[in-house]
Amino acid sequence: MTDALQIVLARRPTGDVTADCFREERVALPPLADGQILVQQRFLSLDPYMRPRMTEMRSYTPPFALGQPLTGGSVGEVVESRNPGFAKGDLVIGMLNWASHTVHDGKGLRKLAAGGVPLSAWLGVLGMPSFTAWYGIKHICKPKAGETVFVSAATGAVGQVAGQLAKLAGARVVGCAGDDDKCAWAVREAGYDACFNHRRERDYGAALDELCPQGIDADFENVGGKIFHAVFERLNNSGRVAFCGAISEYQDTQPIAGPPKMFSIVQKRLTLQGFIVSDHVGLMGDFVNEVMPLLPSGKLKSRETVVDGLAKAPQAFIGLLKGENFGKLVVKIS
Ligand SMILES: NC(=O)c1ccc[n+]([C@@H]2O[C@H](COP(=O)([O-])OP(=O)(O)OC[C@H]3O[C@@H](n4cnc5c(N)ncnc54)[C@H](OP(=O)(O)O)[C@@H]3O)[C@@H](O)[C@H]2O)c1
Repeated sequence: MTDALQIVLARRPTGDVTADCFREERVALPPLADGQILVQQRFLSLDPYMRPRMTEMRSYTPPFALGQPLTGGSVGEVVESRNPGFAKGDLVIGMLNWASHTVHDGKGLRKLAAGGVPLSAWLGVLGMPSFTAWYGIKHICKPKAGETVFVSAATGAVGQVAGQLAKLAGARVVGCAGDDDKCAWAVREAGYDACFNHRRERDYGAALDELCPQGIDADFENVGGKIFHAVFERLNNSGRVAFCGAISEYQDTQPIAGPPKMFSIVQKRLTLQGFIVSDHVGLMGDFVNEVMPLLPSGKLKSRETVVDGLAKAPQAFIGLLKGENFGKLVVKIS
């Protein structure tokens, strides 16, 4: 019999997530039934979308169940199998519990080839966040040489890839991030033309006027709120917004107003498009084929924050909502 360490949702947050929203439990897992596998987890991805799922808010994914383990993208190894589709030793990726081990029926899990890239990369630069960046840039922002693209949360898991892909398409790319080191990395390593520190800079409009003197042709929006308002006002005719997320609003208890002057959507013929990456899984192969070759040459760089130990996942997640991670946040479980 295997014991599993798991993190369950103990309380739904109102406002900021706090440590008492989580509870650590040790449970004895039941023997496998026919069709089941036992996965020993290696890495767990922590992502902003988990915050809305902690509430009862109706969204594109159901809320986490109270008293049950939270779930997330995870990479692990099959250590026992009663499912003909999986063998002991297979590496798999998919939605698993915040846990050391998960019993699973195998549905929705994808096998990974061992080697080539670090396992955690399948949760970041070759995984969901990077796929999100690729989709939003390629299918919505559609940057052209000479255009200006703005990326908020420029060094996050999604933003760092979005900025680099826009740059590879020939655009001038400007971003914002939450500290000077992040901004320096964005310019020095990721090739952004400029990046401002949104925690130090209070007049976002003035910062954008200085760094985007020709206006903004496409916005890859990760943050929402006041940063988005300032960007929206500076969109050029035929501007595009890939509305990916609004992390600055996820912990707000009151709805945030949209930007003023919405009629400019008509006047400037703007396209504002929200998207959810899981609607586009059919394009995952195209994404991997395009992005994987960019890695060995360093044409696409990526940063990760790796937290050691499942028990640290709650605190790491609280930190993610305050910008404490630098690049893709993953938890090393084993
Ligand atoms: N539509 C989709 O299918 C999809 C898929 C994946 C992700 N997303 C969304 O994409 C966005 C980025 O996700 P990610 O995976 O890149 O997250 P991430 O790696 O955790 O980065 C998020 C970053 O957002 C910044 N941030 C946090 N709170 C902020 C605030 N109040 N104001 C401004 N910036 C803040 C922080 O960086 P700084 O230090 O720079 O502030 C933080 O590191 C999120 O909104 C997420 O929900 C959407």
